[in-house]
Amino acid sequence: MVTTYFCQDVPSAPGQKKGSPRMKSMGRRIDQIPWRLFGHGLVSRVILGYNPPTAIAEGVRMAGRLRGKVAIVTGASRGIGRAISVALGAEGATAVLAARAGDELAKTAEQVGDAGGKAEIVCTELTDETSIRRLVETTSQRFGRLDILVNNAGITHSASLEETRTEDLDRCWTVNARAPFILCREALPLLKQAERATIVNISSVVGVKGYPLQSAYTASKHALRGMSISLAEELRGTNVRVHVICPGGVDTEMVSRVRPDIAKGELIGPGEIAELVVYLVTHQGNGVLDELHIRRATSAPWFVG
Ligand SMILES: NC(=O)c1ccc[n+]([C@@H]2O[C@H](COP(=O)([O-])OP(=O)(O)OC[C@H]3O[C@@H](n4cnc5c(N)ncnc54)[C@H](OP(=O)(O)O)[C@@H]3O)[C@@H](O)[C@H]2O)c1
Repeated sequence: MVTTYFCQDVPSAPGQKKGSPRMKSMGRRIDQIPWRLFGHGLVSRVILGYNPPTAIAEGVRMAGRLRGKVAIVTGASRGIGRAISVALGAEGATAVLAARAGDELAKTAEQVGDAGGKAEIVCTELTDETSIRRLVETTSQRFGRLDILVNNAGITHSASLEETRTEDLDRCWTVNARAPFILCREALPLLKQAERATIVNISSVVGVKGYPLQSAYTASKHALRGMSISLAEELRGTNVRVHVICPGGVDTEMVSRVRPDIAKGELIGPGEIAELVVYLVTHQGNGVLDELHIRRATSAPWFVG
């Protein structure tokens, strides 16, 4: 089902003036739009060109704020990375989709297109420095610019520290910390050319606290967060801002593998993380939110306990 809500630029229903809201004829109000479905192929278009002040006053986001911008999203083949890519596309961005599974990246690209954005697939192996460099080079050659870098790809490993092999530690470290480090370094010359650029690194609740049986994953996510803090300091006063998002359990393949004990209904939606990324990359003021913590509503507040 593909549903268009409240579009200014589609033919109006019979008897309505061009640009008048179609919601009434659909029996919907703005606050009844199922925003969580937006960009997932269920609600494909929400264009709030009609009476923008009302839309803003009602706390509804505007579409098209990233038109002309180019974003690299790693881990775009599923889960949180797919949701972020689609949400950026819904704001008009071109999303450069990076991961290994080309067929899954193609599905993400289709969803980005349905949401109103453009997508470019660059199959990338993040354990391979040459592949990471090629991701940036391809972006530069294809688009000549980069405005947004989202280091989202990640892997977990669940075992006690005593049972964690060195190769398990190396794998977590390589994908979760080394790859974002190299990607930031390689992308910075392009990002610095943008009028305003943003790096968003997806750490985790375990980038702030520790969990048993996740020492390799936890160490890598602390490393990513630490690297981000240093980089933000290095880039202070430049056109590039660095942010970290630390989510608790999100409803993706990853969490269903490592935390099957958490009820699916309690998990954070991938679209909720995507909304935070959109907020960070569209925020225009002088204030900066360095880090966002988002936890499951049923978990301990402030990541305590
Ligand atoms: N789900 C959660 O509860 C949760 C909570 C906090 C933080 N996070 C973090 O959020 C991020 C996304 O997690 P998710 O839940 O969406 O995970 P996911 O569903 O397992 O997706 C992981 C993504 O990373 C990519 N990836 C993994 N290894 C790669 C490699 N060697 N080269 C290139 N791409 C690679 C995968 O693509 P391919 O397999 O196609 O390469 C996939 O797109 C991760 O950094 C994770 O640590 C997740």
